Amino acid sequence: MLVLGIETSCDETAAALVRDGREIVSSVIASQIETHKRFGGVVPELASREHLDKIVPIVEEAFSRANIPKEEIDGIAVTIGPGLVGSLLVGVSYAKAMAFALEKPLVGVNHIEGHIYSVAFENPPVEYPALALVVSGGHTNLFFVPEPGKYKVLARTRDDAAGEAFDKVAKMLGLGYPGGPIIERLAREGNPKAVKFSVPRMGDGSPDFSFSGLKTAVTKYVRESGVRPVENGDAPSQAIKDLAASFQSIVIRSLVGTTERVAAEYGPRTLIVAGGVACNGALREAASRAAAQLGIPAYFPSLHLSTDNAAMIAAAGTVKLRAGERAGFDLNADVTLRLQNLDNPDEALRKAKVRYRL
Ligand code: KG4
Ligand code: ZN
Repeated sequence: MLVLGIETSCDETAAALVRDGREIVSSVIASQIETHKRFGGVVPELASREHLDKIVPIVEEAFSRANIPKEEIDGIAVTIGPGLVGSLLVGVSYAKAMAFALEKPLVGVNHIEGHIYSVAFENPPVEYPALALVVSGGHTNLFFVPEPGKYKVLARTRDDAAGEAFDKVAKMLGLGYPGGPIIERLAREGNPKAVKFSVPRMGDGSPDFSFSGLKTAVTKYVRESGVRPVENGDAPSQAIKDLAASFQSIVIRSLVGTTERVAAEYGPRTLIVAGGVACNGALREAASRAAAQLGIPAYFPSLHLSTDNAAMIAAAGTVKLRAGERAGFDLNADVTLRLQNLDNPDEALRKAKVRYRL
């Protein structure tokens, strides 16, 4: 089954052709980082305009790189949410028009589910039940996945997403955008124990994440310690590197610590870590160690599939198309789309435990 994936939920215009949900035939991504860099974050109006300019050439490029005529695809999968409404609408409208013109089936894909499917490439097949940690600039969620396509949110961020925290702290330190890769690079030369931040915990005992307090703690530390943010592209000081390392290590301890905590209860057979922040090498190491302790494999997307792309959307869409799911031409963007569709999570957990003798 050959599926065209289209992704325009945020600031990447992407199209990909994927065979049988596991093999990337072509994947094209046009990043808008240059457009948004000077604003230190994504400007929604500019993002949708750029998607409009790029969607046609990017889809054309995906077909021409694959050297496959459009008529040969078996279906189209497009991100319908969550994301920026203007951006999502460009992809959704284009996908509908193309499905209509080619008379091909169409399915809408949740962007976060797409991230989970980014591990479908270059990893062995996922064994269920799985735990999936999706950490990006827009989302930080830990899911229980008893079987493909079924999700229960075990923990979510109460405020900023993990990637957003990286971006905001980087901006505050004068490091540029996007902040994650820059902080990771500096953290390699810094001491993660130099600045004592505490792992954010919910007062009500919930496993939810929170990163805005940590961002405030970094601001306060900068103000009180007299650490100077980087100016005019100067080389970052050792104090900045130490701060980057200390901040990063707390974010990772929060993400991985919570994952370990819920794993004890849910007995997963695979740990999936996906989303832009999954590019982070220190997070990969910590998650791999945690999975090894649990005696299960940890799967990550390869780096180019960690950030937004359309191959993951095509992979998630393939499962839906195979299951006979079809969207009508009334398919619409849903900016607040949630990925939580287990009617009875306790029952699903019990069944998974029986089936897999956990
Ligand atoms: O998945 P993604 O491309 O977009 C969203 O759906 O949000 O994720 C982008 C986010 C940004 O916040 C970026 O700073 C973060 O992923 N990121 C990283 C790293 N590379 C990208 N965060 C930490 N370490 C990295 N190496
Ligand atoms: Zn994303």
